[in-house]
Amino acid sequence: MPAELSPIDKAKFLAAKRATDFVEDGMKLGLGTGSTAAWMVRCLAERIREEGLRVVGVPTSSRTAQLATQLGVPISTLDEVKWLDLTIDGADEFDPNLALIKGGGAALLQEKIVATASDQMIVIADAAKEVAQLGAFPLPIEVIPFGWQTTKALVEETLVSLDVMNRDVSLRMNGPAPLLTDESNYILDLHLKRIGNPRQLSLVLNQIPGVVENGLFIDICDIVVIGHPDGRVVVKDINTGSVEDDRMEFAPSANIFADMD
Ligand code: 5RP
Repeated sequence: MPAELSPIDKAKFLAAKRATDFVEDGMKLGLGTGSTAAWMVRCLAERIREEGLRVVGVPTSSRTAQLATQLGVPISTLDEVKWLDLTIDGADEFDPNLALIKGGGAALLQEKIVATASDQMIVIADAAKEVAQLGAFPLPIEVIPFGWQTTKALVEETLVSLDVMNRDVSLRMNGPAPLLTDESNYILDLHLKRIGNPRQLSLVLNQIPGVVENGLFIDICDIVVIGHPDGRVVVKDINTGSVEDDRMEFAPSANIFADMD
């Protein structure tokens, strides 16, 4: 077990742990991608071990599939399961309407397909992800490799007429080569600084040939669970307007770190 978790990891762990309270026996779950979602998979694995919880998960990336399998969380495919009760995933930013920027971990395409095929989506995050307006985090878009430079030029041209503060676009790299997504596509990161109209931007980007999907998640997230390093956990439900502000004890079992040893 790691000697001590960093404050940010404590916050992520608490958000993940609180979110797994929403998981009920027999549920079909979308399993998100990223460091916060990895905590959720560990917490889920613990409930499976301790309580005999029966669930099936649809992972949103090869990384999450590998972690779930390693920890004993049963997985399936979306084509097999078809529709999900709940997806729990992280985010790079969320605004007061629970619109999100996702894709920092390059899994936005599968994440959006899975979250959209779910009755409910819960985002788990540390407090640093909460913003008044989206855009400080670069917006990822997934593009097919064929003609990607033309696609990039079209994206840049399109941004000129849109309400954003900055318009730099960069190809995400993995060392000397372009980063490849699980679908063997590229990621363009849009450094916009401020997005005035996320809904319009999302619609316009997806009209550009070569763009497969963008990392704006609008009207998809239902609940956000925000963890703080001091044990505070806030749960905001956009549908009911309810806000629950509680404290949780930070007491992870040693088992939860099994994959990190
Ligand atoms: C992956 C994602 C992640 O959910 C997002 O990047 C947040 O990651 P982390 O929990 O590591 O901060 O969208 O594509």
